Amino acid sequence: MSQYQSEINRRRTFAIISHPDAGKTTLTEKFLLYGGAIAQAGIVKGKKNSRAATSDWMEIEKQRGISVTSSVMQFQYEGFCINILDTPGHQDFSEDTYRTLMAADSAVMVIDAAKGVEAQTRKLFKVCAMRDIPIFTFINKMDREARDPFELCEELEKELGLETYPVNWPIGCGKEFQGVYDRGRGEIIHFTSNGGAKAATATEVLLDDPNLDALIGPRLHAQLSDDIELLDGAAAEFDLERVRHGKLSPVFFGSALTNFGVEPFLEEFLRMTTAPLPRTAGELVVDCMDDDFSAFVFKIQANMNKAHRDRIAFLRVVSGRFDADKEVYHVQAGKKIRLSRPQQLMAAEREIIEEAYAGDIIGVFDPGIFSIGDTLCAPGKKFRFDPIPTFAPEHFRRVRSLDTMKRKQFLKGMEQIAQEGAIQIFKTPYTGMEEVIVGVVGTLQFDVLEYRLKNEYNVELYMEGLPYEYLRWIRSADGEPVKEEDLILGTDVKLVEDYKGNQLLLFGSQWAIGWTQERNRDLTFYEFGGGIA
Ligand code: G4P
Repeated sequence: MSQYQSEINRRRTFAIISHPDAGKTTLTEKFLLYGGAIAQAGIVKGKKNSRAATSDWMEIEKQRGISVTSSVMQFQYEGFCINILDTPGHQDFSEDTYRTLMAADSAVMVIDAAKGVEAQTRKLFKVCAMRDIPIFTFINKMDREARDPFELCEELEKELGLETYPVNWPIGCGKEFQGVYDRGRGEIIHFTSNGGAKAATATEVLLDDPNLDALIGPRLHAQLSDDIELLDGAAAEFDLERVRHGKLSPVFFGSALTNFGVEPFLEEFLRMTTAPLPRTAGELVVDCMDDDFSAFVFKIQANMNKAHRDRIAFLRVVSGRFDADKEVYHVQAGKKIRLSRPQQLMAAEREIIEEAYAGDIIGVFDPGIFSIGDTLCAPGKKFRFDPIPTFAPEHFRRVRSLDTMKRKQFLKGMEQIAQEGAIQIFKTPYTGMEEVIVGVVGTLQFDVLEYRLKNEYNVELYMEGLPYEYLRWIRSADGEPVKEEDLILGTDVKLVEDYKGNQLLLFGSQWAIGWTQERNRDLTFYEFGGGIA
């Protein structure tokens, strides 16, 4: 059992996901306010046009008003040390979301009460479900006209296949919003609007209080009684085990903007979640309470600060304590290293740290030695955490620099961005170094690539769409490199290499995969690069 038990036990690390505009930033900001990490609202996100953005620091995010990459924030609340991982609100960056979820132990899903489950909610939820982590639902914007709460819960169950347990229940919505009924305590938390002002007041009233009719009005009182009866009869039983396995989602109603229901949500959330979860390394299960330090890299981000041109690797500490003075073993490189400039990030703000514990997320300066999924552990240990799978790209473009004189910057930029895992790059046996084939999961990643190459490397790109949608890594029977002339390929299939020299085929259709496999029986196809690399 770890000597750092009390530090580790108070850690909670979660990711927050939502369709853009559901209120993720506002909710995050309210959490930080409660934790005293920020002093006033509007720090995380400024006014619409400026989007001053603690968590939306990249220019392109500001322009588009979406989160492109995820950022990390830590704050303290009632003895807990909480790490929030913000995730991109757009499906085109779902691979980034997936990596972020690898570093989280639970997820908070924010839903707009007027809209319910939206396109990106569905996509992001799918990514969450792959990890089987607990998912907590916050149904936001109850101070506005909202859909029927039963209908919203039903939608979560039908569309996402996620059973729900309403922890509280709304009384009215919009102008009529009276607060929520806390099912566990049998109490009403009454909401008093401040005419749209930022902080509503909340008072607690028992359900059998004789003044309830006067407080919330006889119609809403009657409706609440009916709703409670229906809920108690029909809704799922609360089962903490099922919550912890991501099978049952506790649902909370509230309004992040007016601050209503945020604190009760945070408190229940902390009560229901656990200390940092273990991670696996093959047969080995690494528990947070193991004394020895271990961590893995889940994200790499270059040029976070344009002035510094630096590159940061984000680590999730899995076990033990990180001590800035001690060397760690970088398993993939087979070397002992001292992590340089370890820091905790509060979006754009950074603070150099001396120590961190299991559950924490830290950023370290990366001189180009880390890759996503790398393991760091105490010297003497050699295990590798299970790799983080990459998503197969679905869109491909041929990319080169418009200005042929900028070949060097072009290649450097492409390689660095590929190392971050923001794109995948390929080359054909015949292309020179002037041209690269880029594969992405969502087309918005091309826009980010174009923008970043221009802003960070001063290179304008020429891009041309390629008609491929699928990819398979290949290996010949004797393990020797395959020659194109020895293969039987249709016109919509292309042989390329990744930057580790592994060969792949790109296909224009699913059908072409089968066709090609039929005619080239000596080849083995792999869906993930991990099968080969
Ligand atoms: P996101 O990060 O999920 O994209 O959403 P964000 O928090 O940026 O919220 C999107 C919009 O919804 C913002 O308005 C925000 O003020 C508003 N909002 C968030 N929570 C609530 C809520 O509980 N009630 C109401 N009524 N509105 C809420 P905006 O007009 O886009 O920005 P701003 O001018 O308010 O900054």
